[in-house]
Amino acid sequence: WVRMVTAQTPTNIAVIKYWGKRDETLILPVNDSISVTLDPAHLCTTTTVAVSPSFDQDRMWLNGKEISLSGGRYQNCLREIRARACEVEDKEKGIKIAKKDWEKLHLHVASYNNFPTAAGLASSAAGFACLVFALAKLMNAKEDNSELSAIARQGSGSACRSLFGGFVKWIMGKAEDGSDSLAVQLVDEKHWDELVIIIAVVSSRQKETSSTTGMRDSVETSLLLQHRAKEVVPKRIKQMEEAIKNRDFGSFAQLSCADSNQFHAVCLDTCPTIFYMNDTSHRIISCVEKWNCSEGMPQVAYTFDAGPNAVLIAHDRNAATQLMQKLLFCFPPSSDADLNSYVIGDKSI
Ligand code: DP6
Repeated sequence: WVRMVTAQTPTNIAVIKYWGKRDETLILPVNDSISVTLDPAHLCTTTTVAVSPSFDQDRMWLNGKEISLSGGRYQNCLREIRARACEVEDKEKGIKIAKKDWEKLHLHVASYNNFPTAAGLASSAAGFACLVFALAKLMNAKEDNSELSAIARQGSGSACRSLFGGFVKWIMGKAEDGSDSLAVQLVDEKHWDELVIIIAVVSSRQKETSSTTGMRDSVETSLLLQHRAKEVVPKRIKQMEEAIKNRDFGSFAQLSCADSNQFHAVCLDTCPTIFYMNDTSHRIISCVEKWNCSEGMPQVAYTFDAGPNAVLIAHDRNAATQLMQKLLFCFPPSSDADLNSYVIGDKSI
């Protein structure tokens, strides 16, 4: 027999960034962060997990290619979920798995991303969140999504925020064992559903410096990172929570843009210096800032993760349409800027 579970998890985009760990093994951050989860119909990971007595080892395929599960991050997630596995009974198929059997049984995992892997589009976030969620269902683990988020966190920090829709906060926690470093939902996806998220794919190439290496270097060398984690982010988190609660787009946009810029300033302040944005990214920022200034009121927020792609959050559908026109004007299809655009949340634009 084979028992299978399939899950789908969207990626999330941080508007107050996580950058820097205080514990590299448990993946504990130096500050809280806040993200928005994308529509599951767009950028997402689909993962099928299967268990069978005929499997002789744990194996995983990512986008159809077998990858090694020997890395600490996968092993940590598998171990934590196995420890929470419960009895499963499927009378129709005649399957009964006792709690103690899970230790001996092996797993097969097949995972697909419908977007470029490791191009700064938070693929590890959706990937580990989906893996942990699917395994929890397969093994009948009783943990709620916040408890599961603390396991997904051990796969990739940002993954803990993909267990919920809407706006999500990753609380950094204080405990040394990481038990209080988990995600909570601030508001669900209906709370602010007029926002339209556009991802301008500047390049789908793999990034040069992984987030993991980049943030390690920043923790070791950037004084700005220490100031940011201690002085700046705690205040911004409170202001961002207020802005989200009140659907105050002016404050939301100002905080998101400032936080993205400070994260990239930390990258510049790191030794060796990290450049994630490129000239096209900078031109997109100018284009958005000029437009926001000319309107006297922000219409669009921008944020960039560990890559050159822009995530643009428009106030509403009308602002998103105008933004698309501006982007097409600044980057005509013949332009050599290597910019394709995906429209998330509203296919018709
Ligand atoms: C810039 O979660 O990919 O996207 O925990 O080492 O796997 P690891 O890093 P990762 O870092 C994400 C960094 C970011 C900001 C964010 O998502 O908050």
